[in-house]
Amino acid sequence: MPPAGARTYSAALMSSIIRPELAAASAPAVPFRHRHLLGIDGLSAADISEILDIAGQYVELNRRGGAKSSLLRGRTMVNLFFESSTRTRTSFELAGKRLGADVINMAADGSSVRKGETLLDTAITLNAMHVDVLVVRHPESGAVKLLSDKVNCVVMNGGDGQHEHPTQALLDALTIRRRKGRLEGLVVTICGDVLHSRVARSNIRLLTTMGARVRVVAPPTLLPAAIERLGVEAHTDMKKGLAGADIVMMLRLQNERMQGSYVPSTREYFRFFGLDYDKLDAAKPDALIMHPGPMNRGVEIDSEVADDFGRSVIQEQVEMGVAVRMACLDILTRALRSNAPALEVTN
Ligand code: CP
Repeated sequence: MPPAGARTYSAALMSSIIRPELAAASAPAVPFRHRHLLGIDGLSAADISEILDIAGQYVELNRRGGAKSSLLRGRTMVNLFFESSTRTRTSFELAGKRLGADVINMAADGSSVRKGETLLDTAITLNAMHVDVLVVRHPESGAVKLLSDKVNCVVMNGGDGQHEHPTQALLDALTIRRRKGRLEGLVVTICGDVLHSRVARSNIRLLTTMGARVRVVAPPTLLPAAIERLGVEAHTDMKKGLAGADIVMMLRLQNERMQGSYVPSTREYFRFFGLDYDKLDAAKPDALIMHPGPMNRGVEIDSEVADDFGRSVIQEQVEMGVAVRMACLDILTRALRSNAPALEVTN
């Protein structure tokens, strides 16, 4: 019997879906000790590396097509989304299903939230149904942490207000690491609406923890005060911020979080802060172009640049999203599965 929390992959799985070099890398030197995934804040470099190593194995499983694991058979996962989403909700659903969980999607619109039920009462209600994993997206920063204090199950943050979007930063890191072979020492420039972006916050935390050099570029109105305290260089000129960058990460103007006007017009914004080939020339010739989506073509990114398949890895980010969410589910449910039989894979 393996000790509580030990990995329970069977030899059959290891030999059939996992490349031996990745399997060796996945043995954690320090066990992952977090009950929930509420943010990148609090994760060590070892925690992040472990998630990325295991996600790499799930990329291989997903590319096999039709492969499914029974790791979470008999477990129930609820996706509770109080904000719209395409990538995060769908990839969490796919991740849960590919690991054999029963997955239920709940949107605020179709729930009793519309009758006045509070977030906490909704959480307590789901808790009473013995849900094993709750994935939550909410427009208020801190709402997911608040909810996690009221339930017994594993809680994963699918994005809370302007605070954090941890699985987005993890999938971005996996994309970069697979393309560049490392994170340490890379120059990553994050451009756009940094002020309202949970993606920027999670990426800054993750990338600085892993030894990357992070720059942010935005108009002064969209740069948070004292952003340098997070260990980044701040710029208000795209070409200066992009000079010599290995990675160019674009952000959407998040109009839904803006009260008032932060930019004169989208046309002017594109002229000074939209990524086009002229501004991209300042970055390294092999710089990767990234965007978490959803994209606003012609606002923060030129359509041709977004679709430049030699350099744009936007669709690869989406692919990595499923694998990262599978890895997070795998790691965070270890305690639940500590007495479960070894994993089987069915095709
Ligand atoms: N990147 C991201 O969170 O996309 P969705 O809003 O579509 O989930």
